[in-house]
Amino acid sequence: MSKILLTGASGYIGSHTWLALQAAGFEVVGVDNFSNSSPEVLQRLTRLSGQAPVFEQADVCDAAAMRAVFERHQPAAVVHFAAFKAVGESAAKPLDYYRNNIGGLVNTCEGMRASGCTRMVFSSSATVYGVPETLPLREDAALSAVNPYGATKLMGETILRDLGASDPTWQTAALRYFNPVGAHESGLIGEDPRGTPNNLMPYVAQVAVGRRARLQVFGNDYTTPDGTGVRDYIHVLDLAEGHVAALRFLLDGRESLTVNLGTGAGYSVLDLVRAYEAASGRPVPYDIVARRTGDVAACYADPALARDRLNWQARHDLTRMCEDSWRWQSLNPNGFNTP
Ligand SMILES: NC(=O)c1ccc[n+]([C@@H]2O[C@H](COP(=O)([O-])OP(=O)(O)OC[C@H]3O[C@@H](n4cnc5c(N)ncnc54)[C@H](O)[C@@H]3O)[C@@H](O)[C@H]2O)c1
Repeated sequence: MSKILLTGASGYIGSHTWLALQAAGFEVVGVDNFSNSSPEVLQRLTRLSGQAPVFEQADVCDAAAMRAVFERHQPAAVVHFAAFKAVGESAAKPLDYYRNNIGGLVNTCEGMRASGCTRMVFSSSATVYGVPETLPLREDAALSAVNPYGATKLMGETILRDLGASDPTWQTAALRYFNPVGAHESGLIGEDPRGTPNNLMPYVAQVAVGRRARLQVFGNDYTTPDGTGVRDYIHVLDLAEGHVAALRFLLDGRESLTVNLGTGAGYSVLDLVRAYEAASGRPVPYDIVARRTGDVAACYADPALARDRLNWQARHDLTRMCEDSWRWQSLNPNGFNTP
């Protein structure tokens, strides 16, 4: 049973991946500083898995703390989720993003190297494609950073590539996530944004549950079928399985790789609103407002490489994504603060 260390383990994608790894027979150690998650997640994981999680509260930017964590646990591989992720905030606070996302990655890699662990799965993002020139997006499409957050993901991929070039014992998988949504089918864990949600589905969920009055749709004059922005939504449970597949690949001694994790299907904002209304039985009133700076018309993956190399593909459709999100939102109207 291989031991896997997850940084950012109590976050949205980390907590779902934790359960998927346990179900696949891995031993998991979680690390998080709760800068964007709640300790309540650990209670929920205990309920779901029937065992208390092995957890270290630590900041991945703290080199001494990370060295100590690696010495104590000696993992076979790391999944590095820990990062700040809000695009708009990254433009307002670039130094925070570079320190946390780049500094945290470098410290984590140094802790790994000191303990002889050289396998990492890294959370990259479709944002590394910048403004897509052709669709669907293949991994060999042009890359560009259009905001500091995107720059940290592009630089993260570069750091791992350089590490592999300097020392062939490093094997890494950079997973470019498209738009993760949905929640665990239990309704016990899900996405719990602090303040105003930056992403569409959590916003829609909060309108449906009555926490917010109306949705703002940023632009209906894009060159898309209904004029609103098109994205590749992927169920967080499928995404979690993508990490299991990538870890198996690396632990089999296979080479480093960079792959998209998406479904390959594009849905518009209005498609998602209608699917959510159907799943929840609640209205989602919206207003069309001006386009938001930095948004692209459409972005969706070519998921063929992940299917070929990792034998992985997304299984859940938009209806299931909305149903699971709604179960989480309606059972926990105030997220993890719901008693
Ligand atoms: N959710 C998305 O839409 C999306 C899309 C593409 C890529 N990603 C990437 O996936 C990863 C996970 O995203 P998520 O949606 O689960 O975000 P999240 O904010 O829910 O989870 C990230 C976790 O990392 C922790 N963290 C942040 N900085 C830390 C530090 N210095 N030390 C220790 N812990 C720290 C936070 O407390 C949080 O629990 C991130 O790297 C993100 O950039 C997310």
